Amino acid sequence: MTDSPYLEAVALSKRYEDGVLALDRVSFGVRPGQIYAMLGANGAGKTTTINIFLNLIDPSEGEARIGGIVTHREPLEAKAHVAYVSENVMLYGNFTAMQNLEFFARLSGKHHYSRDDYHDILRRVGLSDDVHYKKVRGFSKGMRQKCGIAIAILKDAPAILLDEPTSGLDPKAGWEFCRLLESLRQEGKAILMSTHDIFRAKEIADTIAIMKEGRLVMEQPAGELAHLDLEKLYMEYMAGHNGPMPAEA
Ligand SMILES: Nc1ncnc2c1ncn2[C@@H]1O[C@H](COP(=O)(O)OP(=O)(O)OP(=O)(O)O)[C@@H](O)[C@H]1O
Ligand SMILES: [Mg+2]
Repeated sequence: MTDSPYLEAVALSKRYEDGVLALDRVSFGVRPGQIYAMLGANGAGKTTTINIFLNLIDPSEGEARIGGIVTHREPLEAKAHVAYVSENVMLYGNFTAMQNLEFFARLSGKHHYSRDDYHDILRRVGLSDDVHYKKVRGFSKGMRQKCGIAIAILKDAPAILLDEPTSGLDPKAGWEFCRLLESLRQEGKAILMSTHDIFRAKEIADTIAIMKEGRLVMEQPAGELAHLDLEKLYMEYMAGHNGPMPAEA
């Protein structure tokens, strides 16, 4: 694990066209081999942050960097270094799981995978052989998320961004998803995720941040929160605890 962050938000601000200030000078970093979890109320700015990293939107001020590349300056170069898993993974319903993997692998410029590689990756994410040739139209949400992470694994990018990846998954599927994220951390990926699942964040993240109204109001190593009631702490921040960030106190 190196000390320099691979994903970096530097005084990131976003004011949407209608005047909403969705992000207000947010700064943080995610190192290789680190899982960084963003918590925060609906509308806090988590998706906006992730979308700036993906260059789906431009920041108003500040910048997001992926491996030192500024996303809004060199969008294509930046995108090549990051894989993305959303809450609702976009797949081709008429394609089988195998065909989806092949399609997205090629889209990422990865032409070296064999059929066996696709089977192996589908097994790794917990999709058994009997569904590899089934059309994904009939897949459950958990199965679709597994396909999404399989596609992210195929891309083999050094960074992975996930926007509420376990939302709507049953406890077992959520648990399996987290084990996968841990194995990706083990491989040295820099992982940034948003989630509403406080308990899972505490379980798997190395660093936990709380966003509120576009600002990062708390950032702590998960180890330092181990003995604290994170849900209570979260509620205190939501209720307007506006003191200094504990790290600075
Ligand atoms: N395209 C847009 N145009 C205008 N305002 C937007 C747009 N997208 C988001 N916003 C506003 O920006 C703020 C941050 O939204 P964002 O989606 O980033 O929050 P979030 O933390 O991801 O919330 P959630 O937990 O509900 O997913 C909200 O006030 C939202 O209404
Ligand atoms: Mg969101």
